[in-house]
Amino acid sequence: MTTRAVVRGVGHYLPERVVENSEFEKSLDTTNEWIRSRSGIERRHFAADGETTSDLAVAAAKAALEDAGCSTDDVDAIVVATSTADLTFPSAATMVQNGLGMTRGFAFDVQAVCAGFVYALANANALIVSGQAKRILVIGAETFSRIMDWSDRTTSVLFGDGAGALLLEAQEGDGTIDDRGILSTDLNSDGRHKDILYVDGGVSTQTTGHLRMQGKEVFRHAVEKLAQTAHTALDKVGLDGDDVDWIVPHQANLRIIKSTAQKMGLPMERVVVTVQDHGNTSAASIPLALSVGKQNGQIKPGDLLVTEAIGGGLAWGAVVLRW
Ligand code: UT7
Repeated sequence: MTTRAVVRGVGHYLPERVVENSEFEKSLDTTNEWIRSRSGIERRHFAADGETTSDLAVAAAKAALEDAGCSTDDVDAIVVATSTADLTFPSAATMVQNGLGMTRGFAFDVQAVCAGFVYALANANALIVSGQAKRILVIGAETFSRIMDWSDRTTSVLFGDGAGALLLEAQEGDGTIDDRGILSTDLNSDGRHKDILYVDGGVSTQTTGHLRMQGKEVFRHAVEKLAQTAHTALDKVGLDGDDVDWIVPHQANLRIIKSTAQKMGLPMERVVVTVQDHGNTSAASIPLALSVGKQNGQIKPGDLLVTEAIGGGLAWGAVVLRW
């Protein structure tokens, strides 16, 4: 018997305020047409004043617990992937723990920017297969609207706020690729590329800072590295693109998503796409896509999924899981 980290529940939360591309036409030298054709984004959600990343995360966690039919008494740990925690410390995860009224277990954040959810899944998987936790809430939550430079048309039109959550549970499998749960993970980073996507502020500089991105460079790395990491993760368990039912990619740019699917030999009918409605929500984009994909009937029990993401660092990776 092999212990697997199986998805028991999934949920998401999006802030109420929806901002269409056309709103940016009022303040920036941009057009709905440019944003749509270059990124695939049509709208995004922005958090209300005073609404924080942990607020979004708590709402998503509650939805995942409800989907799983579980309560916080059943949860041993909370892992939050975020680059936009409410405060420098404590972690967003402990704030979520408090927000859920949970007084036992342990909670911590993972910071790998847009690859954060993939990193969080890999960490939670390791905790579960090593017997350190039975059920873990794995959450991706972001308020990137707080780190936008609203005068920069090359970045401010791309990002949005939101949160998604999975409840992972230890279940016994046969140790084969037919098992439900996480089957393999592949994590990578290369700090030589730290200057092509970063925030120009932080604790040591005593400013919050704004997101800065050399979009074309990041694009080039994404197109090269995402299919590669997905193939590596599949290879580890003797699978390839043909075995995949759904790619659930980080939702940064529809052109990157299409190019990765093409490299993996999969048609767009087998890709969960939410970028048009959410924009780039960084670490929240994959759990949001998983939740929406399940809700709209695309993802079904037993389906083989590959998630992949790349972000600041650069950090990138992939997870293969059977739903
Ligand atoms: O989630 C983390 C990972 N992030 C990503 O994966 C993002 C990767 N990068 C991208 O998605 C794309 O590079 C962008 C969507 C950011 C940009 O698309 P692009 O096709 O690479 O455009 P570009 O940066 O080469 O810009 C083309 C032109 C430029 O004008 P010139 O120099 O050709 O005259 C830009 O100044 O488009 C201009 N431009 C805009 N025009 C209208 C840039 N932003 C805008 C804008 N509206 N918002």
